[in-house]
Amino acid sequence: MSFKLAVLASGRGTNLQALIDASKMGEMPAQVEVVISDKKEAQALKRAQDNKIPAIFVDPSSFPSKKNFEQELIRILNGFDYDLICLAGFMRILSPFFINNVGKPIINIHPSLLPAFPGLNAQKQALDYGVKFSGCTVHFVDEGVDSGPIILQAVVPVEEGDTEETLAQRILQEEHRLYPLAVKLIAEGRIRIEGRKVFIE
Ligand code: GAR
Repeated sequence: MSFKLAVLASGRGTNLQALIDASKMGEMPAQVEVVISDKKEAQALKRAQDNKIPAIFVDPSSFPSKKNFEQELIRILNGFDYDLICLAGFMRILSPFFINNVGKPIINIHPSLLPAFPGLNAQKQALDYGVKFSGCTVHFVDEGVDSGPIILQAVVPVEEGDTEETLAQRILQEEHRLYPLAVKLIAEGRIRIEGRKVFIE
């Protein structure tokens, strides 16, 4: 298995877990090589350790600027052999500096049907707006916020009486299916990008 992932995560890490599990089950021809977090207490780091994957905390507050923090991320990433960066609940916007200098493609999973409800609290935005369907999106990361070419999307119905938590949970189940599938397509070389359109071959 040669396709390798670097995962950046800030929190509970269930999408990271979905990638680890899919790799172990042979559902995705890729493996998680390193996990980096900007939060010391992130459960994602614990999940990595439990699976004998290098787990690295980088404290943003110990750098004088965002650029210095991102330089450190790049320095650490350069110490690993990997093909693709997967953001999995990484709650920081990466600057054009990082995106243009890291030298590898970056994908993200977002809990809405982009371009609707980018940014924070996507599930709350969907409920407040009153949409009947939401979902999740896996996309390439570009210099905007949740604006890069869309690889895959899954639709999730909004049900009467949904709270932010119940909707988030229903969407999360689809995220766990979609993210490994997107990685699988990339690892198999089946993704072609033309402008902002992604074709699956
Ligand atoms: C997921 O729902 C992911 O889509 C979302 O954060 C959650 C992380 O959960 N990401 C964003 O909102 C990014 N803008 P996890 O830590 O259990 O994978």
